[in-house]
Amino acid sequence: MNNPLYQKNIISISDLSRAELELILTTAQSLKHNPQPELLKNKVIASCFFEASTRTRLSFATAVQRLGGTVIGFDNAGNTSLAQKGETLADSVKIIASYADAFFIRHPQEGAARLAAEFTNIPVINGGDGSNQHPTQTLLDLFTIYETQNRLDNLNIAFVGDLKYGRTVHSLAQALSLFNCNFYFIAPEALAMPDYILEELNEKGINYSVHSSIEEVVDSLDVLYMTRVQKERFDETEYQHIKSAFLLNADMLENVRENLKVLHPLPRVDEININVDKTPYAYYFQQAQNGIYARQALLALLLT
Ligand code: NCD
Repeated sequence: MNNPLYQKNIISISDLSRAELELILTTAQSLKHNPQPELLKNKVIASCFFEASTRTRLSFATAVQRLGGTVIGFDNAGNTSLAQKGETLADSVKIIASYADAFFIRHPQEGAARLAAEFTNIPVINGGDGSNQHPTQTLLDLFTIYETQNRLDNLNIAFVGDLKYGRTVHSLAQALSLFNCNFYFIAPEALAMPDYILEELNEKGINYSVHSSIEEVVDSLDVLYMTRVQKERFDETEYQHIKSAFLLNADMLENVRENLKVLHPLPRVDEININVDKTPYAYYFQQAQNGIYARQALLALLLT
């Protein structure tokens, strides 16, 4: 199959057009309903985590293996010989990419995936670079929103929590700005959405507003996207001051729209009370499972 994504790098969600995003979502939907256990037969995928990950790493490995491919790589760069011997990222990437058909990388530094792409000629997929971007999370978020709302256009969506360091909200807001959604931002002042994202939204004429509580907007939402404060990106005292600013519990969902879905990229710390889990609005566990199909769709389009 020839397609516009064949052999492309996926570094920022902004590298993808609306039509390309839609192609990934329809492919994900098809793979969810019609598994293709041979599609990546004989393909080797490098999965290199220079920053810790559980969900993304296991979801990616599952996606590859359920398509018949093989995963090589590591999940804790600190324990690898490359970190211990002081090899540069460029050299590590060149070598590992020469063994594989695609290169999935998570790294604590912003821009690391873009750099990696300069040293390889196989598709590089950004699995999260510092507080910058997390495009494959966005693909599963979009897939989940589409699955639950039957559309991506003109939705009311609130982003709550760490909008400054949360890479998932940066990528998702950029992607949904192609679909004319209304955004509501709710964050501690110190963790507000970065200016460069707000400027992009202004340029595209997207409506957004800033609020000081979830209650202010919850009844008019289609999607409530909760996030945790990114503890690892600041020091402990600062974290203690800022954590637990916005907590969702089931009482707050009494008058919401029937179609509301509460999403969270996970891990949850304390921002969603477990009493929300039993409401019909909780969809974060299904969202995490959708990561398999969204990542499968991406691999299928990049490699076949
Ligand atoms: C997110 C991440 O790593 O940015 N998690 C994930 O990929 N599922 C969100 C987070 O860590 O808070």
